[in-house]
Amino acid sequence: MKIAVLPGDGIGPEVTKEALRVLDALSLPGLTLFEGDIGAVAYKRHGHPLPAETLEMARAADAVLFGAVGDPSCDSLERHLRPEQAILGLRKELDLFANLRPAKVFDGLEELSPLAPEQAAGFDLLIVRELTGDVYFGDKGERVNDAGEREGWDMMSYSASEVRRIAAIAWNAAKTRGGRVTSVDKANVLETSRIWRETVLEYAAEQGVKDGSSIALDHMYVDNAAMQLVTAPSQFDVIVTGNLFGDILSDLASAAVGSIGLLPSASMGSRETEHGTFGLYEPIHGSAPDIAGQGKANPMATILSAAMMLRHSFRLEAEAVRIEAAVAKALADGIRGGDLGGSHGCEAIGSAIIERL
Ligand code: NAD
Ligand code: IPM
Ligand code: MN
Repeated sequence: MKIAVLPGDGIGPEVTKEALRVLDALSLPGLTLFEGDIGAVAYKRHGHPLPAETLEMARAADAVLFGAVGDPSCDSLERHLRPEQAILGLRKELDLFANLRPAKVFDGLEELSPLAPEQAAGFDLLIVRELTGDVYFGDKGERVNDAGEREGWDMMSYSASEVRRIAAIAWNAAKTRGGRVTSVDKANVLETSRIWRETVLEYAAEQGVKDGSSIALDHMYVDNAAMQLVTAPSQFDVIVTGNLFGDILSDLASAAVGSIGLLPSASMGSRETEHGTFGLYEPIHGSAPDIAGQGKANPMATILSAAMMLRHSFRLEAEAVRIEAAVAKALADGIRGGDLGGSHGCEAIGSAIIERL
């Protein structure tokens, strides 16, 4: 069971270290770890944020555990050399088109949420974010417009096949959850979203005919969805949406749970290994340069990402549940990082989780 560990920048190495300590505490037989450079650190050492050796290491592994990339000192580099291109490049190169971002307010920990207790208690959803298309990967550039001004442009598009394959992921997820899918788009304005919505509808009709599937589908504009996530979250079970909308709504969802330091993610494609499905696992947060190097980061999102890795890439459901329960117990026992108004540091949080495994 080969894991490529890519800690990256800022708090990436700090939170990854704690996730590795948790994995180590489980004493799983047959795990081999490989560590690679990625992001600003890789740019500084090798002249590229996603060196060929790192990409090869990721390809050769059964799963990738990723920290975060991004460094303010690289913000004015040409786009292709910026650290963020490394994670975008990995997603694209490895065809990890489906990003699963589960967001649930922890039972009994509604107080961590800024939502009213009744809303917080009903907050339990999965965002299925398309990850290799949309305006993220379209042509883009800078030009001079007719008025002689600089103008930036980014091409947004979705093909029907891209929409179908992410719809299928959402359907399968809904079958194991509450049986409801909300497709989020901006079909009142965007042609990309019109094709998205029509394709989801077509897919839903086919599934209904094929297996009499009882998945309830509805559609919502993204602006309304942002509002409803805060005012009436219990209506959501699985949200399926495009790359950009999913990016934004998942940060919002993390805040509803309590902090961005709590939300894990799994990025999946369709490659099966002998151990499970190949995937890349990362917290949804970034490199948090404002707190990097201070031992203050909350590693829970990365530790929960490692749990998702055990579940999806190694079919180790019991071990995944053990990690998730230990995180929930630590929170219930009052273990809180600065992001949750507490004073526990990154390492102390890791240790508290290991004690509870
Ligand atoms: P961010 O997620 O890094 O930080 C946003 C805020 O949340 C900051 O105040 C930060 O201190 C806090 N925060 C984030 N994670 C935390 C944690 N685990 N514990 C405690 N507090 C935490 O977003 P940003 O500031 O917009 O971006 C910083 C850099 O990270 C940028 O370069 C951005 O491009 C990059 N980024 C990378 C990824 C990724 O690698 N997948 C994701 C998002 C942002
Ligand atoms: C995320 C991040 C990335 C994204 C950035 C760093 C490219 O915000 O993983 O949510 O926009 O996908
Ligand atoms: Mn994001």
